[in-house]
Amino acid sequence: MANDSRILIVDDELGPREALRMILRDDYQVAVAASGKEALDCFARTEYDLVILDIRMPDINGVDLLAEVKKKAPDTEVVMITAYASVETATKALRYGALDYLIKPFDRASVQNVVEKGLIRRDNNRFIKNKLKELQLANKTLEEEVEYAYKNIQSHYSETVSSLVAAVDAKDAYTKGHQERIAKLAQLIGQNVGFSAEELELIKQAAILHDIGKIGVPESILMKQDTLTDEEYAIIKKHPVIGAEILSPVQFLKEVVPLVLYHHERFDGKGYPQGLKGSQIPLSARVICITDAVDAMLSNRPYSHAKTVEKVKEELLRCSETHFDPQLVDVILKNELLAIYLLLVEKDRRQFPQYRG
Ligand SMILES: [Fe+2]
Repeated sequence: MANDSRILIVDDELGPREALRMILRDDYQVAVAASGKEALDCFARTEYDLVILDIRMPDINGVDLLAEVKKKAPDTEVVMITAYASVETATKALRYGALDYLIKPFDRASVQNVVEKGLIRRDNNRFIKNKLKELQLANKTLEEEVEYAYKNIQSHYSETVSSLVAAVDAKDAYTKGHQERIAKLAQLIGQNVGFSAEELELIKQAAILHDIGKIGVPESILMKQDTLTDEEYAIIKKHPVIGAEILSPVQFLKEVVPLVLYHHERFDGKGYPQGLKGSQIPLSARVICITDAVDAMLSNRPYSHAKTVEKVKEELLRCSETHFDPQLVDVILKNELLAIYLLLVEKDRRQFPQYRG
């Protein structure tokens, strides 16, 4: 047993206190206290590995002192001292966390055995705690590394997604800037229907990414001047699903996925890919749908010339409740959002000469 283990003997009676000290002093660092109060003073100054504590003392009850010791130093082992008459109290002390009890008068072997047992338990507990600390530290480091790697993957994926958006823009010159423009209109509508700051950010991301699935549609179809064949139209109609598949692995874009997937659903259920109807379609997807159509109507397309604002308004009313959510048509018309939108994209219109308001 290591000589530097510290033991405190607490007993108000000189006889047992000294007897214990004599048994232990050659092997351990032994201190003595003649009262509960003196023991607490010792504890305030020094840490002990083991305390031998008399149950009956005039100032502080031994069981109360045991509780106090365990509160201040939970790892310190405590052995209670008792007479035959109070074995019941000693048993109670065990329930409060004491290691064992010694019955007066002591015999050398019992004292040495119980102290050795206490110090072994103390060492084991210390070893387990240190191991636990090491594991927690290693775990924290591992968590940090995983988080860093995860952020790295997300960041690379985000860059890839941006490249894909740029690739779609490059494929279809007519849609260049379309995503950023409809993001502005979608946010305008969102503000007017009471979207939170988080919902406005979400719809902005969805608007920018909504057509990312066009990366999977051949350029010859995207740029075709003539009417599309049924087969070509079927290919175009796959782009919301392709877009959702591209974005699904990105954790931070998971709420964008349904908006991309459903941006071609119609209010009357005749849209695609799933033919969802009315409130089955997420409100933000209904917003993307109407902004997508508004910007397309206000732009020159391979298959149609840009419409005037008045014509767009007529078209919105004509398609209210069929193509578009009537609540959103109302919001756009009552708040003159088309006029505000055109002011917002003024710079954009100058950059794209084919764009007509
Ligand atoms: Fe689309």
